[in-house]
Amino acid sequence: MTSTPPKDFQAAGVVIEGLRKSYGPIEVLKGIDLEVKPGQVVCLIGPSGSGKSTLLRCVNLLEQPNGGAIDVGGFDVTDPDVDVDKMRRHVGMVFQQFNLFPHLTVLENCTVAQLKVLKRSKAEADQVAQRNLEKVGLGKFASRYPAQLSGGQQQRVAIARALSMDPSLMLFDEPTSALDPETVGEVLSIMRNLARDGMTMLVVTHEMAFARDVADRVVFMDGGVVVEEGTSEEVIGNPQQPRTQDFLKRVLDPTHVEVDE
Ligand SMILES: Nc1ncnc2c1ncn2[C@@H]1O[C@H](COP(=O)(O)OP(=O)(O)OP(=O)(O)O)[C@@H](O)[C@H]1O
Ligand SMILES: [Mg+2]
Repeated sequence: MTSTPPKDFQAAGVVIEGLRKSYGPIEVLKGIDLEVKPGQVVCLIGPSGSGKSTLLRCVNLLEQPNGGAIDVGGFDVTDPDVDVDKMRRHVGMVFQQFNLFPHLTVLENCTVAQLKVLKRSKAEADQVAQRNLEKVGLGKFASRYPAQLSGGQQQRVAIARALSMDPSLMLFDEPTSALDPETVGEVLSIMRNLARDGMTMLVVTHEMAFARDVADRVVFMDGGVVVEEGTSEEVIGNPQQPRTQDFLKRVLDPTHVEVDE
């Protein structure tokens, strides 16, 4: 029997209000409001250092916020009494560097947390892992080791690993930016399928074509604040704020170099 997440988590949304985070004297998030409705895809864009990863890491408490509130599927993540392990079980995260265990096979990478955290039997964990590996097109690679895979394939394993925990929300932090250009598409296409299947997703990305096609909302951050947000047509197609316009000009035309006179 496959264990399913509790009902309140099946289509988790995220509501972030007034989120603040400092490292020492430096305030990196300066009061962020952001919502991902259940089943929506929100793409977070913005220049390096603007706080995108910090924001994502606050959502599953890899970083402890200094202020504000974060609600994930009805769980108040910022409540000091929150059951962090329980909450994290329902939040899958995919990083830029795939973070696979090099000494474990692809299948074992996808079962280890199921066995340890969800206490599934080996037979059930194997079955769930195999199903998710097939979903990302890697059903035949279960017995390989990460080093025997391309970057794109490793990232697909990382997605299968996260999916094997039956998450209600997936966080992606620049999942394609460490990949060779020819393997970016295979990872984006898996993410597109996930979105189509109704997964709630918060995605930090520089892939503007993906954001344009898949995102229900696009949020542009700079300097620890949300500068502009809206539909992808609004934010990417017709940005209103000068900072958003400058950023998009640079991202969409990387050969454009501004020379200081
Ligand atoms: N653990 C930390 N200790 C101190 N400062 C940190 C830490 N993590 C991040 N910062 C700082 O916080 C700011 C925001 O970092 P963050 O990684 O969230 O930015 P980002 O938008 O994800 O950038 P990038 O696009 O380069 O990934 C940066 O100035 C960074 O140097
Ligand atoms: Mg980052």
